[in-house]
Amino acid sequence: MYHRDVASKRSTRNAAMAPTAEFLCSPRVRSFNQNVNNVYDKGLVKITPSNCTLPVEFMEDAQKILDLEVKPDDVWVVTFPKSGTTWTQELVWLLMNGLNFDLAKRNHLTDRFPFLELSSLATGRKKPPTHFIDIVKNSRSPRLIKSHLPVELLPRQLWTVKPKIIYVTRNVKDVIVSYLNHHQLWVGCSLTADEFAECFMENIPKYTPFWDHVLAFWKLRNEPNVLVYSFEEMKADLSSVVHRVAAHLGRPVPEDQLPALLEHLSFQEMRSNRAVNFEEKVENARQDLGLRPAASEGLRFMRSGAVGDGQQRLSEDVRQKVDAWTDACLAGSGFDGLR
Ligand code: A3P
Repeated sequence: MYHRDVASKRSTRNAAMAPTAEFLCSPRVRSFNQNVNNVYDKGLVKITPSNCTLPVEFMEDAQKILDLEVKPDDVWVVTFPKSGTTWTQELVWLLMNGLNFDLAKRNHLTDRFPFLELSSLATGRKKPPTHFIDIVKNSRSPRLIKSHLPVELLPRQLWTVKPKIIYVTRNVKDVIVSYLNHHQLWVGCSLTADEFAECFMENIPKYTPFWDHVLAFWKLRNEPNVLVYSFEEMKADLSSVVHRVAAHLGRPVPEDQLPALLEHLSFQEMRSNRAVNFEEKVENARQDLGLRPAASEGLRFMRSGAVGDGQQRLSEDVRQKVDAWTDACLAGSGFDGLR
């Protein structure tokens, strides 16, 4: 079985080998860095195991993360960036906290639901004051933990302790467009959508390769502790996803509270909710980089919340390339890639 094979190979390999990194230094990588205000001046690396691209700074913590103690009552939300992480985190936090909407609105999601590797990715300028690995370690159980890491770089005990894991995925063209917005927002990216898509297919933005990330979790979808669903399912029928997540976590939603939960999770509500829309954090990050306020550029973390933007924003030529690349990456997997 995939899960057990991977788990045993992983523990043998990790017992013997610490993760290693190889610098990415093609002309396209250099140009990518220039187009994101040189935030990756120390370098982007491809990490073994996984082939995942991350800033070299991550290597300081890679082993610490692999060795992190996992607890059976943890709840992990793992995604490739821009796949519906924040939306799912807010849902999970509310389910785990008795639908306490007031408390949720008073405390930023990052403080309620720590992002495991966030401090490990800080690329210079301003280091966060507290290390998120320590925040996770010191959180009261049941701990709620967010990560974008691929299976190979997540704590090894996930595969033996088997806490609840929720993995969300999304149509790749929509991820590309949303990830471009993310780079424009946080690091002033000046690439066009087509240029960004080319970089994405060459596995340059952090956390790529996309399909390796998704496929590894898709293969785990029948494990009892793993729930996999898509952004598109959330858009099509949020109520049904809420019930699936609630059942997975053993925290059913009282029927009379469902309308308030759905309202709280609606795009309009989340867009205006300072505890989840990242607007202050974005403006602070932009100030540090000397960028104009996001608001003045019409950029928002909660951008459109729609399905199908990739189809609109990418050229016909690049859409075809993304389709051919997707076919090649998914060949033989049995996964349709949400197309
Ligand atoms: P867009 O950029 O396409 O608008 P993540 O949290 O993984 O970074 O994903 C962010 C994406 O989820 C953004 O997509 C954001 O707008 C969307 N999103 C967040 N909350 C949402 C909601 N309540 N309804 C619909 N989309 C939402």
